[in-house]
This record gives sequence, structure tokens and C-alpha cells, in this order.
Amino acid sequence: MRFAVALCVLALFVATLALDNGLMRTPPMGWLAWERFRCDIDCQNDPKNCISEVLFRDMADRLAEDGWRELGYVYVNIDDCWASKDRDSNGRLQADPKRFPSGIPNLASYIHDRGLKLGIYGDMGTLTCGGYPGTPLDKITIDAQTFADWKVDMLKFDGCYSNATEQEQGYPAMSKALNATGRPIGYSCSWPAYQGGLPPKVNYTQLGEICNLWRNYGDIEDSWNSVLSIADWFFNNQDVLQPAAGPGRWNDPDMLVVGDFGLSMDQSRSQMALWAIMAAPLFMSNDLRTISSGARTILQNKVAIGISQDPMGIQGRRLIKEKSGIEVFWRPLSDKASALVFFSRRTDMPYRYQASLGQLNYTTGSYKIYDVFAEREMPTLKDSTHFVVSINPSGVVMWYISAPADQENTHIGGKLRGPAFHRHANGISPIVL
Ligand code: GLA
Repeated sequence: MRFAVALCVLALFVATLALDNGLMRTPPMGWLAWERFRCDIDCQNDPKNCISEVLFRDMADRLAEDGWRELGYVYVNIDDCWASKDRDSNGRLQADPKRFPSGIPNLASYIHDRGLKLGIYGDMGTLTCGGYPGTPLDKITIDAQTFADWKVDMLKFDGCYSNATEQEQGYPAMSKALNATGRPIGYSCSWPAYQGGLPPKVNYTQLGEICNLWRNYGDIEDSWNSVLSIADWFFNNQDVLQPAAGPGRWNDPDMLVVGDFGLSMDQSRSQMALWAIMAAPLFMSNDLRTISSGARTILQNKVAIGISQDPMGIQGRRLIKEKSGIEVFWRPLSDKASALVFFSRRTDMPYRYQASLGQLNYTTGSYKIYDVFAEREMPTLKDSTHFVVSINPSGVVMWYISAPADQENTHIGGKLRGPAFHRHANGISPIVL
């Protein structure tokens, strides 16, 4: 009997370990190779940009020396094409010996010495998407142990070359195997992206129990179209996705491409703002050695990062989609604060959008407004005061909103009441901000 009780307690303990590794209480931040550097393995002709230990050391140096680390960008993440095409004589994965001559453990200590963390990439299946050795079901234990032995801090587990049944077994099994190593390893699952991202095929409750973050949707590319289509999918499906997120469990709309070639400065601010509203992981995929000061300023915006990293970890929502092409997003934050994003899908000229906080579901009271990208305090706004914001084409205005300490509720929350929601009342002269 005693033995049975002890067994039950042990089983409970193991179950708890498997459910919550205590990591990533706020959305993880760092740098990830894929979008910018892909599977460039031509180190002969392109030594600075090929997937090699040089690239990851360079990025670690930049993160440590250019102010990124202090802002929270601490992960240096390897993606596909790092491995040798063959496992070693013990059946373990090994890095390509030409491109990673010092080996992954060495790279890990280089990265740890700079106060950063190392992420690596694997694939639940026979091959990775790029055709490198994958982790089929019978290799999960040994690969988890290899990553832990190498002192890896995070695993992105992709899903090419496996079917739905294998994924159903493999993703939870890898979660258990990582926990069983005893090393805290953040776990990013691409599982839902391979199952269409929506219930009933995807079970977000289960994902929250086994993964720290998960890719729900397709790959980001270096273009505004790509960013927009991803943002649209996430907000169109917010009723399903928004409740799935919370401390230690995040939806992942994929990397930030700010600092690359495809986005204007306005579009870059839009990606940063919408990713912060979504409580998305902030993994930049860019070249930190040559990034422009404009892109750096956006990525290093402290208030935008603060909104992303809010400890309550509540994912934001789209509140309004106007016929004019303006959309308004909202995220509740700790200390009775909140964030609003006014976004324009327009392609003509800056649009003067008129609203009041009351119309955006804020409760009676007065509010302090900070314009995140203009980096300035705005005049205090009453809930009833009409204001106008000027939003650039494919751009945003982002506000951090705080309420006086004695104010109780600040926002009705939840969904808006639907289309009967009118503004632009005639005859009221708005404050122009
Ligand atoms: C998939 C993933 C990408 C990247 C590539 C690598 O497409 O979704 O993020 O990891 O594989 O081959």
C-alpha cells in the first residue's frame, strides 16, 4: 500500500515535470539564423554568411556588445543545415565537421561566456526540411540527451518527413525526454504548423502542457506581404489562439524580419508592434553586423519590448477592423496598463483616424498616454475625449496607456460588441495628437 502511494506521488511528480519546465515565463527573445541565412553552406565562397560556427560567434558578439543582451535578446539559435549528413559511430547527431570544427559544446561555452543562451534545431521525422538527419521516434531519447550534454538551452523541433500519427507521439515524447535530461531546455514545437494550426486537429491545451512555444503557421519571408498574411491569420483566428498563450506557453508567428531588405521603416514598426501585441517570441533573423540604425532603434525600443515582455503574459487582440483599412489592437498589461496599436492597411497617404478611449472599451477615467515609437508623452486623455491619430500607410501608432493609481477597472476587455459600434460622431471636435 505504502509502495503504491509512493508510486502515485512519484508519478504525479513526473507528470508535473513533464507539464511545466518553468522556462520562458515571458516570450523568449534572441536571434535565429533561418530567415536571413537559410541553408547557405558554401563556406568556401561565402565564409561570412554560411551556416558555420563563425556566423553564430559573430552574432553572439553583436548581441553581447551592441546592447541587445541587456534588452532581453539572449538566445543565439541555430536552425537547419548545421548537422553532418551522418550520425557518429554511437548513433548521435554531430555537427558538420568543416563548418563547425570546434563542435557544438565549444560554441555553447562561447555563447554562455557572453551571458547568452544557445538554441538548436531538430526535426521530428526521418529528415529535416533541408534534408539533414532528423529525429525519428526511436532517436528521441538519444538526441535529447545529446543536446543536453552539449549544454543547449533551447530546441526548435520541426516536423518535416513525419506523418500525423508520428507527430502525435513524437512531440510529447521529446518534451518528456528533454525534461528527463534534467537540463532546462526551452521547447519550440512546429507541430501545429504541420496540422493546419486550428482545432480539432490541433489541441492547444495539450501544446501548452508540453511546449514553451509553437509555430502555428507557415514560414515568414522577407516581405511585407508575408508579414501581413501572417498577422492576418493570427488575428483572424484570435478566438482560438489568444487563450492558448500565457507564461511559459506562446504562439509563435515566426521571426522578426526587421533589419533585412523587404520592409520599410513603417512596416518594420508595424511588425514590432503587432508581434508585441501578440505576445510573440521575438527572434530576429537579420545580420546584426550590418543592421541599419533605423532598424536597430525599432528592435531596441524599450517600451515596445516592455509591452512584449509584460509579466501577465496575456496575448492581445484585434478590437476593430474598419472599412477604411484601419485596425485597432489592444493588449492588457500589468499595473492596470495596456497597449493600443492603430494600424493602417492603406496604400495612399497618412490617415487621420478619430476615436475616443471610451469607444475602444476603456472605462470612465483619465489616462496617461505614451507614444511608443515617437518616444514621447502625450496629453492625458479622458475616456470621452475625441482624438485623432495620423497613421502612415502600412504603419502603426502604438500607445502605452496607464491609468491613475486610484482608478479601478480600465477596460471592459473581451470582445467588442460587434458592428453596431460607431464613431466619427459629427460635431465633436477631436484633440489632434
Ligand atoms: C521549416 C521551418 C523553418 C525552417 C526550415 C528549415 O520550413 O518552418 O522555420 O526551420 O524548415 O529547413
